[in-house]
Amino acid sequence: MRESLRDIKTVGTLTPSSRHLCESMIRHIDFENGITIVELGAGDGVITHQLLSKMPVDSRLIVFEVNEKFCRTLRQIHDPRFILIDDTAEKLDDYLNQLHIDHIDYVISALPFTSLPRTLGINIVKQCYQHLNKGGLFVQMHYSLFTKRLYKKIFGNVDVCFVPLNLPPAFVFVSEKI
Ligand SMILES: C[S@@+](CC[C@H](N)C(=O)[O-])C[C@H]1O[C@@H](n2cnc3c(N)ncnc32)[C@H](O)[C@@H]1O
Repeated sequence: MRESLRDIKTVGTLTPSSRHLCESMIRHIDFENGITIVELGAGDGVITHQLLSKMPVDSRLIVFEVNEKFCRTLRQIHDPRFILIDDTAEKLDDYLNQLHIDHIDYVISALPFTSLPRTLGINIVKQCYQHLNKGGLFVQMHYSLFTKRLYKKIFGNVDVCFVPLNLPPAFVFVSEKI
């Protein structure tokens, strides 16, 4: 709450995602061996922990978060599958290159694209598209339908599901790299 009030445009919400919203995001993932997941805008790790509880031992989770307080909390996760990038998701391409990762299987994003600059959103979603494997999924949460067109334009497809049990009620957008 304190971090939200300090910088609501970047944090994008007053409350962390509910269990229902987290589940609605991660139910699209097939947790098979060797998968690489990128999480954008992890906050205090509410989705991160659920992902790690389901991921197989030989998988990887690369997490981007810009807020220093949230990063401090995330650094308490000691798990060999977990890599924290305390920098902007706009540098996805650079960091994946540094980590020698060409392709990823899933992107789980809670970035508040509606309050971030539009060009930043386009840039990040395009980088996700470029790095996803064919059949890979981009999963994004929002509290409105405003950005639906952005995902449709970049991926050519987008499915939307409504999650009423969250404060505020939310939408989950899922686009597949075809
Ligand atoms: C809506 S909160 C989601 C937090 C958590 N994942 C949840 O579901 O409750 C969005 C998060 O994105 C982070 N964020 C905003 N812009 C970012 C950027 N450019 N790169 C990485 N993280 C960013 C914010 O600091 C914030 O923690």
